[in-house]
Amino acid sequence: MSEAVHDHELTVVVLAAGGGTRMKSKTMKVLHQVSGRSMVGHVLTAVQGVKPRRIVAVVGHQRDEVGPHIRQLVPDVVLAVQDEQRGTGHAVRIAVEALTERLMGAPLRGTVLVAYADTPLLQAESLRAFAQEHEAAQRAVSILSGVVADPFGYGRVVRGDDGDVEAIVEENDATRDQREIREINSGILAFDAEFLVGALPRLSNDNAKGEYYLTDTVKIARDDGLHVGAHLIDDVGQTEGVNDRVQLAEMGREMNRRIVTQWMREGVTVMDPATTWIDADVKLEPDVTILPGVQLLGATVVAEDAVIGPDSTLKDCEVGAGARVVRAHAELAVIGEAASVGPFAYLRPGSLLGAGGKIGTFVEVKNSEIGPGAKVPHLSYVGDAEIGEQANIGAGTIFANWDGVAKHHTRVGRLARTGSNNTFVAPVEIGEGATTGGGTVVRRNVPPGALAVSGGPQRNLAGWVASKRAGTPQAAAAEQALEGDTEPGGVPADDGEGH
Ligand code: UD1
Ligand code: CA
Repeated sequence: MSEAVHDHELTVVVLAAGGGTRMKSKTMKVLHQVSGRSMVGHVLTAVQGVKPRRIVAVVGHQRDEVGPHIRQLVPDVVLAVQDEQRGTGHAVRIAVEALTERLMGAPLRGTVLVAYADTPLLQAESLRAFAQEHEAAQRAVSILSGVVADPFGYGRVVRGDDGDVEAIVEENDATRDQREIREINSGILAFDAEFLVGALPRLSNDNAKGEYYLTDTVKIARDDGLHVGAHLIDDVGQTEGVNDRVQLAEMGREMNRRIVTQWMREGVTVMDPATTWIDADVKLEPDVTILPGVQLLGATVVAEDAVIGPDSTLKDCEVGAGARVVRAHAELAVIGEAASVGPFAYLRPGSLLGAGGKIGTFVEVKNSEIGPGAKVPHLSYVGDAEIGEQANIGAGTIFANWDGVAKHHTRVGRLARTGSNNTFVAPVEIGEGATTGGGTVVRRNVPPGALAVSGGPQRNLAGWVASKRAGTPQAAAAEQALEGDTEPGGVPADDGEGH
C-alpha cells in the first residue's frame, strides 16, 4: 500500500520553532504531554510511520530542551535552528538549507511534507494517503485541507470557478468574502522538492504579518503553470493544534477517547470510558476489564482476563493474566498471574508480586519480591524484602529496612507464617517454614521451622490505674468493675501477678 511513497524519496519537515506563549509555561508547548507522550512525540510517531528517507525538525524557542528531546526520539533527525521566527516559509527555508548542507550539494529530490509539531492526533495513515495522492497527481504543491465550522485564524483555500485551487489566503490578508470560506489549510503541505527549493527564495514578507508565508508557494506554483491541489481530510481533528491549556485538556480528552475506543474494539471491556485514562504506549490484551476511575499510564502492560479498578493508577506496570487490582496506586511494579492487589494498596518501584500472591488492604510495598502464592494481606509495610512462596505475613507487620543510615534487606523463607504486629529489623532472615508469635520484634535470624517470640511474659500490675490515674473516667470504670468483682465478660479478676 505504501509502495508509491517508498519509490520516491520522502523528506518530512516538522516545524517546532514557535514559542507557544499562550501556554504560559516554562515548558515549551510541544513538550507538553498528551496521553503520556509529548505533542511533538506524537507527531514524530506519525511521521516515522510513513518511513520517510529523512526527518528535519526546525527548532527555535527553547531549542536546548526541544532539540535533545527530538533527537532522543529520532536519533538520525536533522535539526535546523531558526533563531528568529520569521514565518513558516522562512522556517522551511532554514530546513532546506540544513538539508542541503547534509546532502553536501546533492540536489534534494522527491517529495517534501511539512507538518507542525503541535498536532498530536495526526496519524501516519493520513500522511501516507496525502503523500501518495500528491505524487500520483504530480503536483508542485498539495494542501491537506479541512472543512471546519469556524475557520477563524486559518489560511483559507481559495478556489477558482473551475474548482481549482488558486491560493491560500491568511486570515489577516483575506477579503470579507474570502473569510466566509470554510475550507482551510490544515498546515500540512506536500511539495515537489525541486519546486520548493526554487520557490522559497521567491517568497516575500509583504503581508499583514510581515512574515514569509509558506502558503504563498501555492500562488507561485500557479503562476508557473504547475499543478496545485488540495486533499480534504475527513478527520480534521488530526490536524488540530494546541495553543493553550484549555485546548491541551480538550486534546487530552479527545486523544484518550480515541485510545479507549480503539482498545474496546480490540476486545477490552471498559465500563466507563469517561473516567478511564489510557496512555498512548499502554498495551492491553483482549478480555481485560477496566472498571471506572482507572489510569493506565506509561508503558503499562495488562494481560488477558485481568480486572483493574475501580479507582486505580498503574504507571509502567506489568499485570499478569487474571490478576485483580482494586483501588491501588502502583509504579514500576510487576503483578503476577492471578495475583490480587488491594483494596487500598501502594506498590512502589521494584515491587514484584508472584503468581497467585496477595498484597492486601493498606499495604505499602517497595523494592521487594513477594513469591508465588505468598500473602501480605493487611496493614503492612514491606521494604527491601524477599518473601518466599506461600509464606504468610501477619496483619500489621513492618519490615524495618532503614536503620537511620542505610537500607537493609529482609528474607522470609517459603511457607513461613509470621504473627500479627511483627517488626522485622533488617538485615534479618526468617527461615523456611518458621513461625513468629504475635507482636514479635525479630532482630536475629529465625532458623527454619523455629518459633520466634520476643518480649517477656505478660505481667498485670493490679491497681495501677487507681494509683496513677486517680480521678479519671478510666479509673472510675475500673473501680466500678472491681466492685462487681468481675472483668468484662464475667471472667474473675486476676490476682495481679503475672503467670
Ligand atoms: C498557519 C498557516 C495557515 C494554516 C494554519 C493551520 C502559514 C503562513 N499559515 O498559520 O494557512 O491554516 O497554520 O494551523 O503557513 N513556525 C515556525 N517558525 C516560524 C513560524 C511558525 O517554526 O517562523 C511553526 C510554529 O511553531 C507552528 C507552525 O509553524 O507550529 C505554524 O505557525 P503559526 O504561526 O501558528 O501559523 P498560523 O498563523 O497558525
Ligand atoms: Ca497556529
